[in-house]
Amino acid sequence: MSSLPRVVDVRVLVAAASRHGSTLEIAQAIGRTLSARGLDVLTLPAEEVDAVDGFDAAVLGSAVYYGHWLEPARDLVEAHAAALASRPVWLFSSGPLGDPDHRLPPDDALDVSAQAEAVQPVEHRIFAGKLDRQALAFREKAMVAALKAPVGDFRDWEAIEAFAQSIADRLPESTSLDSGRSVDLPSEAEATRTRSCRRR
Ligand SMILES: Cc1cc2nc3c(=O)[nH]c(=O)nc-3n(C[C@H](O)[C@H](O)[C@H](O)COP(=O)(O)O)c2cc1C
Repeated sequence: MSSLPRVVDVRVLVAAASRHGSTLEIAQAIGRTLSARGLDVLTLPAEEVDAVDGFDAAVLGSAVYYGHWLEPARDLVEAHAAALASRPVWLFSSGPLGDPDHRLPPDDALDVSAQAEAVQPVEHRIFAGKLDRQALAFREKAMVAALKAPVGDFRDWEAIEAFAQSIADRLPESTSLDSGRSVDLPSEAEATRTRSCRRR
């Protein structure tokens, strides 16, 4: 019998919480890029993730509402914090509209410090979001009108693609089963781990 280690695909979970769909589309774009780079990717809404044990790495994101991630993304991190902390994890937030300094609401700075603290991400990226007035609930419409929030699709697909490519650059396409399916990050990546992602 051969004792050679069995080589398996590196499995990546891409999950995002989205109220109106635009952040899930960002997750899907990231998932497509990672798949095209040879990784074995599953992309899911955050609320559909039951376990993270079968994955070697994760990319987790959320739309930002009132300065925070949506509940399904917060719950996902909280429920699987230990497993996530032992894997390479990338976080992304989608929210700012138009001018990146235009906050909605103006006093709620993005705060993902609890999530970053829990999983110790390799990196946390913030992407511009999308605001479609037609899709908003009555209260959201009132809020958006009162704050004169810019309406439109401000998502920067090039930046999203570059983020996904940078993730793929750091993950091998396959790993040996002998290594317990855990993918080791290069030390350079370790050095760039983001400990606090609190935004100004
Ligand atoms: C009521 C409301 C509150 C929002 N609060 C914030 C916020 O605090 N910070 C931010 O950057 N964006 C905020 N946004 C913008 C959303 O995050 C942005 O529209 C995002 O792309 C929506 O993603 P989704 O389509 O996945 O729900 C808010 C939008 C609405 C309608």
